[in-house]
Amino acid sequence: MSQKIRAIKGMEDLFATKPVQVWQSIEAQARSLFERAGFQEIRTPIVEETALFERGVGETTEIVEKEMYTFKDRNDKSLSLRPEGTASVVRAFIEHFTDHQIQEGRFYYMGPMFRYENPQKGRYRQFHQIGVECFGQDHPGLDAEIIFLLDQLLRSLHLNQFELKINSLGSSECRQNYLSALKEYFTEHRSQLAEEDLQRLERNPLRILDSKEPQSQEVIGQAPDLSDYLSSENQSHFLAVQNFLKNLGVPFQVDSRMVRGLDYYEKTVFEFISTDLGAQSAIAGGGRYNRLVKSLGGPVVPAIGFALGMERLVSLLSADRLNLKSLTKIFFAALDEESEKYFSALLPQTRQLSAVTQVDWGSSSLKSKMKRAARWGAEWVVLSGESEQQKGVLILRDMKASTQEEIAREQLLDVLKRISE
Ligand code: HAM
Repeated sequence: MSQKIRAIKGMEDLFATKPVQVWQSIEAQARSLFERAGFQEIRTPIVEETALFERGVGETTEIVEKEMYTFKDRNDKSLSLRPEGTASVVRAFIEHFTDHQIQEGRFYYMGPMFRYENPQKGRYRQFHQIGVECFGQDHPGLDAEIIFLLDQLLRSLHLNQFELKINSLGSSECRQNYLSALKEYFTEHRSQLAEEDLQRLERNPLRILDSKEPQSQEVIGQAPDLSDYLSSENQSHFLAVQNFLKNLGVPFQVDSRMVRGLDYYEKTVFEFISTDLGAQSAIAGGGRYNRLVKSLGGPVVPAIGFALGMERLVSLLSADRLNLKSLTKIFFAALDEESEKYFSALLPQTRQLSAVTQVDWGSSSLKSKMKRAARWGAEWVVLSGESEQQKGVLILRDMKASTQEEIAREQLLDVLKRISE
């Protein structure tokens, strides 16, 4: 026997653990909400030039340093599977909009992202994000509107156990001053830092604040606070964001240690956390990235966005609370060739019904056809064999009640319409 080929580690078949309807209903809810907020869908390629992510996400981030699926194409060009959506949307925005003097836009996307991380609960190598990116304005009201959009989406899915954390990273100038202070502080205390963090100290001391190394936690706890390095303009932007959030009734906590793992952020950053998720507690994250469009070759266009992790959200939602509507299931069982032809000719009409219909092809016995109908979960079975053919009737079986009746062919569609409603 030849060897079985299995899915790649950290990449899942998405119908196996939760009904796929849970995924579909999150996607439908997101589409509906985002479109009512003026966002249009954008679908970018899954593969981009590696340089896009190096310059976009940042060369000193874990994602670019350790987690990208990078390979050469046949022309020796370095390509990468997208590890996130923002850099691609910015690239597409520059390519299709700013080249035509349009400097505003609201986009949403959903799809797979790839990061070569150590798979564990809530962390995969292929995972799915739903995200939005909004270009054109640098107003604290917009920051709050974007956060509110995500809050609304989670609540509309009946998710209640989550917290919102926000912070401001200031502008790049504030960050530069803060980085120098951090570098100085951590250099002074380098003997207390874990090996991994010593490397981060050289490349990007901000990343130490994200460190999970137990040895470094005490020094990190005493590190200088970013909020002390914000310019007065950035402080007032951040305060205004908080006031807008209060106005909108969105509860939040300020967490001055939250720096996010991607380099493009400045000013407002945020994360939605669920304590029910274990170690991988972030359901979603985002923030402002006012310089990214320019640094990827476009004009100066401020922007803000977020992405949520579908796998993590799906694991928190129960199918019953989503009120998933299921259609009536009707199974057509033909017991002879003539009946098969009859059901086949009926397909154009039966597919108009608001029911799930399936014709059972082939000449198996009545018993095995009924078994298949039950296994599929049919609520109704329409049966036809030689004697029904001759009489011009059909048998309609109610699987739940275990009763059946004979109906005339002319009445079939009306009866099916009634039971499908
Ligand atoms: P991120 O925080 O790297 O941000 O990812 C967003 C969300 O994706 C996380 O909160 C998490 O739920 C999910 N996620 C990330 N990595 C994994 C993984 N390996 N397995 C399962 N889920 C994962 C971004 O990607 C930014 N592009 C968000 C953004 C958009 N910022 C501005 N605009």
